[in-house]
Amino acid sequence: MPSSDHWRVLFVCLGNICRSPLAEAIVSDRAKRRRLDGCYRFASAGTGDWHVGHGADPRSVETAARYGLDLSAHRARQITAQGIAEWHWFVAMDRSNRQDLLAMGAPAERVLLMRQFEGAPLDVPDPYYGGPEGFDRVFRMLQQNAEALLDHLEALREGAG
Ligand code: 4NP
Repeated sequence: MPSSDHWRVLFVCLGNICRSPLAEAIVSDRAKRRRLDGCYRFASAGTGDWHVGHGADPRSVETAARYGLDLSAHRARQITAQGIAEWHWFVAMDRSNRQDLLAMGAPAERVLLMRQFEGAPLDVPDPYYGGPEGFDRVFRMLQQNAEALLDHLEALREGAG
């Protein structure tokens, strides 16, 4: 675990242009409202390199804007085995992202699934090849899990004492 006075949490999907930038923005916003922003550093990355340096998908930017969140500054990046040690926690959008992180050497106990709080190992579906309604659905799904994720991290932080 890297040493620092805050926990570094990385949201991970495949391309880092659709789901994980939304998750990062939503959870950062909730953390700020709960005055927890000093305790965490949130970022996002993709397991693939296709979109590195690009902005978020315009459909994600538009969806976030409708809910009052600004994704315009996002630039996609990639997580590789070399970068694993920089993060305390990984939050994978789906089980395939989780498998990819484990294959890169991420410790299993530090890889969370975004929807694990719904009581089953559910995936945040990839909206890339679908229509704009898929992005709204993903946004609401992420919103529904954001507080539970923060609660979980807070409980772990208390446990780590
Ligand atoms: P994301 O969606 O993993 O939620 O960012 C995707 C974005 C791009 C691609 C796949 C998924 N792609 O194949 O380029």
